[in-house]
Amino acid sequence: MTAQKTILRALAGETLPTPPIWMMRQAGRYLPEYKATRAQAGDFLSLCYNPELAAEVTFQPIRRYGFDAAILFADILLVPQALGADLWFVTGEGPRLSTITTQAEVDALKPVEAIHDTLNPIYETVKILSKGLPEETTLIGFAGAPWTVATYMIAGRGTPDQGPAHGLKAENRAVFDALLERITEATIHYLSAQIEAGAEVVKIFDSWAGSLQGADFDDYSLKPMRQITQAIKEKHPGIPVIAFPRGAGERYVGAHDAIGADCVAIDDGVDAAWAAEHVQTGGCVQGNLKSSHMVTGGDALVSETRRIVDALSNGPHIFNLGHGITPDADPENVQLMIDTVRGK
Ligand code: CP3
Repeated sequence: MTAQKTILRALAGETLPTPPIWMMRQAGRYLPEYKATRAQAGDFLSLCYNPELAAEVTFQPIRRYGFDAAILFADILLVPQALGADLWFVTGEGPRLSTITTQAEVDALKPVEAIHDTLNPIYETVKILSKGLPEETTLIGFAGAPWTVATYMIAGRGTPDQGPAHGLKAENRAVFDALLERITEATIHYLSAQIEAGAEVVKIFDSWAGSLQGADFDDYSLKPMRQITQAIKEKHPGIPVIAFPRGAGERYVGAHDAIGADCVAIDDGVDAAWAAEHVQTGGCVQGNLKSSHMVTGGDALVSETRRIVDALSNGPHIFNLGHGITPDADPENVQLMIDTVRGK
């Protein structure tokens, strides 16, 4: 029965004796089988748009480790690409996009109805996963939050301080607002289509929320995530939403209510004991082991994992890292983390 899946139980607010576990970027370059399938696909974007192979890499960490959730293999930057931006990945450096900084460029973006065909392979991947995952495994769909996606669209690449996006916000608020609205609308459509294809939960990644201060955090991180969450819940009542305003710090307090999310994912910049007291009171919390433990392993991994599990044991908790696992991680350390969480 679906309601018995541990991830869904935690998202419904249940405190479980053992927290369910999955890992951001669990399908990734630390796994030799991922690298082999990626090579077969040719490159990263070809892998994202190949439903059979994208499903295969999503299954890989489930087969190897038995995680409680699988996350669709795709990328947050597929939405800008579907809206008409050029997108490519430079090996060893990261994503590159054509930039958007004027009203004319925002107006030239494709209408939301037109993104469906481009993104159709992603929905096909979701369908394969929905049929093929073990019955106890929850399928998570995802998208980037409008602010984070906009930072890439405005700068044309990843930036350490999101300077170009802050610049457009300061200099031409109307264009900036129009861009965020377009992304918000497209994201609602994209996540709804993932749910219709079989995603049981959706997660919104606001990876650069931490660079928004004061009212900007309310207006450009919380508000667009709330708009998306409300729209999803209207169209698909009962679908849980996980929000990840990474780097929010003390602004994690009250984030469940401000967004309307069932779960808030915390990064490793906040302490788990603090989060238990100030964030978990609002609902399920997901996180927050430092990813570097997947590289270094050993006693520190075990003691930190236990400390987080204990700190968050009096409320609903999904164990995860504070951010994605890195390519230099050792697959054996992932097993050690899982065994520690499950008390083996
Ligand atoms: O978590 C998962 O396993 C699901 C798949 C997933 C990917 N990207 C695959 C990926 C998810 C959920 C994402 C989200 C994503 N993508 C975010 C938000 C989360 C975060 O990490 O903060 C962001 C900012 C992106 C944009 C992006 N995609 C960047 C900056 C990069 C390059 C950096 C890097 O790690 O190489 C990517 C590429 C990317 N997306 C890879 C994977 C597995 C590596 C690509 C490869 O195989 O070469």
